[in-house]
Amino acid sequence: METITDRNIADLNDLWWQTGVIYQIYPRSFQDASGDGIGDLKGIVQRLDYLQWLGIDCVWLSPIYPSPMADFGYDISDYQGIHPLFGTMEDFDELLGQVHSRGMKLILDLVPNHTSDQHPWFLESRSSRDNPKRDWYIWHDAGQNGALPNNWLSVFGGHAWEWDETTQQYYYHAFLKQQPDLNWRNPEVQKAMMDVMHFWLRKGVDGFRVDVMWHMIKDAQLRNNPVVPNSPFDEKDLIYEYHDPVYSTDQPEVHEIVRMMRQVTNQYDDRVLIGEIYLPIHKLVTYYGADRSGAHLPFNFQLLTLPWDSEQIARAIDEYEGALPADGWPNWVLGNHDQPRVASRVGRSQARVAAMLLLTLRGTPTIYYGDEIGMRDVPIPQDEVVDPQGLNMPDRNISRDPARTPMQWNAEEFAGFSAHKPWLRLPHSLRNVNVELQKEDPDSMLAFYHSLLTLRKRQPALQTGKYTPVYSDKQLLAFIRENDTDRFLVVLNLSHRPGYFRPKTETFAGEIIVSTETERIGLRIDNNLLLSGDEGLIIRLER
Ligand code: NOJ
Repeated sequence: METITDRNIADLNDLWWQTGVIYQIYPRSFQDASGDGIGDLKGIVQRLDYLQWLGIDCVWLSPIYPSPMADFGYDISDYQGIHPLFGTMEDFDELLGQVHSRGMKLILDLVPNHTSDQHPWFLESRSSRDNPKRDWYIWHDAGQNGALPNNWLSVFGGHAWEWDETTQQYYYHAFLKQQPDLNWRNPEVQKAMMDVMHFWLRKGVDGFRVDVMWHMIKDAQLRNNPVVPNSPFDEKDLIYEYHDPVYSTDQPEVHEIVRMMRQVTNQYDDRVLIGEIYLPIHKLVTYYGADRSGAHLPFNFQLLTLPWDSEQIARAIDEYEGALPADGWPNWVLGNHDQPRVASRVGRSQARVAAMLLLTLRGTPTIYYGDEIGMRDVPIPQDEVVDPQGLNMPDRNISRDPARTPMQWNAEEFAGFSAHKPWLRLPHSLRNVNVELQKEDPDSMLAFYHSLLTLRKRQPALQTGKYTPVYSDKQLLAFIRENDTDRFLVVLNLSHRPGYFRPKTETFAGEIIVSTETERIGLRIDNNLLLSGDEGLIIRLER
């Protein structure tokens, strides 16, 4: 008898956002066609053939909307326009058409939690206490002697409340004071943002990555967040991590909003709703919503946030697989514009192992631009830092600029990215780390990514097949991906030292089809498998 779970899994297995691979472009840094040192939409169009060759299925663009750029586009002043730096609406339509004509998908960043302080909604809201849009944002009176409404802190450092002289109230901003939070309890706000979604969906975009989804609703009583026990910070530091943000984020009512967004998405064929959510697994999976009514893909950031340790990662994979709702589709992210690049976090040699893990686990993978050539964080001198997170907390070394530098296309002075000095500097390693060179080198990182993506595209077992863990120890991690016709064993050495693969119960025999060391491709293996440090293998098993 067919169980409900079997039926749901079968129904779900063929959707593009399940079988495909997502590639994140940070538009300022991908390709500059206009010659001002900042990437743009026309530039992205010029590089679509590369993305198609690479083998990705969907492009996600970080925000391209009009913005004062206090937070590089995550402070939006018009949700239905294109920033002139990036081009025009005609350029966008051209890009969307070109992406679709290559059989690929395009998803946009939706930033519903906050607007720019220059957005007309906020300008109205702050103009007077009785303005009809006053309640579109989170305003609150001062306490005695001007006290703040509560102890909430901004993610970018300092208090999360800003005093407005004109109307004599505070407003709340989870990020910069130039990014006031919308009041999502207000039905007019809900409707306005759903209209924004309709606007882009009608145009034909294939979905959204929703910024800080878990922040969208705050505690109705605005209660104080508790202090994290044994915090390394002092209360006076005003560092966000000093508190456990139990009242300012992840409120039960947020799921109603996510459901609303999903209902809008559902009105169009084949679109996807992705949520940016940094939460522990058991909370993360609640964003799939009751009966799959929430996000299709609550972003899973464990490979970004966990220490690079085989035991911890093996455990996290199992915990995630175990916590997923029966019909919830998994996903994995290895890099994004907010985190250090993978090649800097885990090192150059482990970056290949990480790529193999990302592209063989069960679930939709997201690749961050440039990781496919092994770009590392670029050291940015203090006086060139532009990221507000870095500028506000200079002692913490958490500027995001190093992971946002221009794509390295070739070894020329400006990396083939621009004819002009780029907005962020390029590294000296440019000579070796660039697309042009690596495309010709069968042992390069790019060739490795290409082979992994090609294999994944050809093998449904790697896209939607079952996942079974088979082995893990202090160095190695191994699992099987299989469907009715094919069976693959993936063995990864997450350490620099040689390690033995010693499964206890099963016996394995097969042929190596992808390896971090190309010399081993084609060799046969059996149970007594010894891996070099930093080695990863995909083995086609005999059935
Ligand atoms: C999350 C985005 O990824 C990050 O870049 C941004 O600074 C914050 N949201 C605020 O919008």
